[in-house]
Amino acid sequence: MENILSTKQFDKVKILALFEQAKRFEEEGGGDLLKGKVMATLFFEPSTRTRFSFEIAMHRLGGSVVSNADMMTTSSIKKQETLFDTGKVVSQIVDVIVMRHPEAGSVAKLAEGSDVPVLNAGDGSAEHPSQGLLDLYTIWKEKGTLDGITVGMVGDLKYGRVPHSECDLLRHFDVKFVFVAPEALQMPKDIVESLENEGAEVKSGGNLEELIGEMDVISMTRIQEERFESREEYQKYAGSYVLDENLMKMAKEKAIVLHPLPRVDEIDVAVDQDLRAKYFEQVGNGVFVRMALLSSVF
Ligand code: NCD
Repeated sequence: MENILSTKQFDKVKILALFEQAKRFEEEGGGDLLKGKVMATLFFEPSTRTRFSFEIAMHRLGGSVVSNADMMTTSSIKKQETLFDTGKVVSQIVDVIVMRHPEAGSVAKLAEGSDVPVLNAGDGSAEHPSQGLLDLYTIWKEKGTLDGITVGMVGDLKYGRVPHSECDLLRHFDVKFVFVAPEALQMPKDIVESLENEGAEVKSGGNLEELIGEMDVISMTRIQEERFESREEYQKYAGSYVLDENLMKMAKEKAIVLHPLPRVDEIDVAVDQDLRAKYFEQVGNGVFVRMALLSSVF
């Protein structure tokens, strides 16, 4: 039985094999591969794309779904059941569990109790493996490769679990990193150091205008309001970066723009019309990558 809790579980061979499988699902559909299997989605934090696309992925593989989008207030966690016990209980009646929670490490706690595979759909600021994978899949499809490219990450690189997972996966490829964030929200030092120790070139700065021209991939992220200690603290950084038509003029002609969404104000809607904007295609790609992930755990 294999859980998917962390991007650390993936190496280059595994990532590319997963993408080949996702591509096959995209071209040929999922058939009835998981017919008779049931997936439970246990979400302790808001979600639109991630929960729906996991659920649609399961449907497209012929499986079925039971779902709780509001575990925090409507599940037995409210009666002080531990995550371990919830995992044990739910795993007696379903075949796979997908879970999101605001606390780092919480999905692993539930997985300890579970007798079926558990997939991490985001745990606090720590990780979001399926999102990282679908972001790379989008780059791989659009660019034809993950090697020899410069990937820019822009926004809240401290609290954003998506940029953390992207780094963890991109480290296996020949990638140059450009991190653009306010000083206080820069990529955590341990991540930067581990990339550098592995020989990657890393550039960090605060000025998007200066650095956008270097990027083949412009991966935007929202300032993660819910992770700040206070609203005042968040307000200091809200609106730090807004990718607009003007900035897009400074970007490479063949650059692509990604965003895990939801966006607040960090990409002007006018950019949606730019052919380099790939964030809505990215959402669609999420279904195929999650089909590949789900089929891989059985
Ligand atoms: C992201 C998340 O939940 O981490 N959204 C998503 O899963 N598509 C990004 C975010 O909330 O900013």
